[in-house]
Amino acid sequence: MPSSDDRALLSRFLQDAIRRELRAGVSHWENAAWNKAAGTFLEGTAAGAPRVARVARATRAEPGAEPEREPEAVAPAARKTKPTAFNPPPKAAGRARDWKKQLAAVGAEAAECRKCPLCETRNSVVFETGTASVPLVFVGEAPGRDEDLQGLPFVGRAGQLLTKIIEAIGIDREDVYICNILKCRPPNNRDPLPEEVEQCLPYLERQLEILNPRVICALGRIAAQVLLQTKTPIGKLRGRVFLYNGRKLVPTYHPAALLRNPDLKRTVWEDVQLVRRILDDPESVPPDAPPGGAPGGAPPPRRVDDLNLGI
Ligand code: URA
Repeated sequence: MPSSDDRALLSRFLQDAIRRELRAGVSHWENAAWNKAAGTFLEGTAAGAPRVARVARATRAEPGAEPEREPEAVAPAARKTKPTAFNPPPKAAGRARDWKKQLAAVGAEAAECRKCPLCETRNSVVFETGTASVPLVFVGEAPGRDEDLQGLPFVGRAGQLLTKIIEAIGIDREDVYICNILKCRPPNNRDPLPEEVEQCLPYLERQLEILNPRVICALGRIAAQVLLQTKTPIGKLRGRVFLYNGRKLVPTYHPAALLRNPDLKRTVWEDVQLVRRILDDPESVPPDAPPGGAPGGAPPPRRVDDLNLGI
């Protein structure tokens, strides 16, 4: 007859074993969901999400059989929204009824801008892209060569990667809003000068005011440091939640940095999951302490000396 001590030991052993099994099951499910959501974004990195299964299959048609239809022709809706582990994103709300008109007015003003010497070398003023039907704004640094030629932000290689990053959190690129700190390309893609930022930033401030997004994702050092008025390196800012004029802001690495160092993709994937969590449930993610600014988020910079770009 086992003693009561033996019975207690056995019961603890069984409970631990059951807990271990349950944990293994949950983490298996989490990994599967994670891989599905990350999709092609993490392909070829040390993070190593497996390739998402392709829909198309090689088939040998029987004589006289109906030719197999293209997957796109069978399910046109599937072309837009990729299968991910996320629910549909929330819709933008809480904007002025004439927000499109207001944005267009700011865009028209920017299109004529001659406040800094970049107007002499630009081909286009690159103001915005996206329908803003989801309350998420990505802010980059400045247009590059492709963007300057096409007049749209993030259309080059970095832009293609940004599209994958956005799709990895279950959102179509055209549903968010994408813009930059500078609206004109600096020659040879050099870093923006403080005086260029000072002249250009009011356009972005007005874009963000009009859009009133639930979350802003600052892409790269320049965007994060300008918006947060700090010299703190991007590696210390990323993955944290700050407040910018009362709106949540998450800095992450610039997609161009990921092109140079694909191992950063895993880190960016974690950061954009945080963005997605804020989108879905803003209250669940409280803001971090500001990086040297006033509580509640630093106000937008006003003078060149305030910019502290560290450049
Ligand atoms: N890099 C940016 O920061 N913005 C763009 O629009 C393109 C590349």
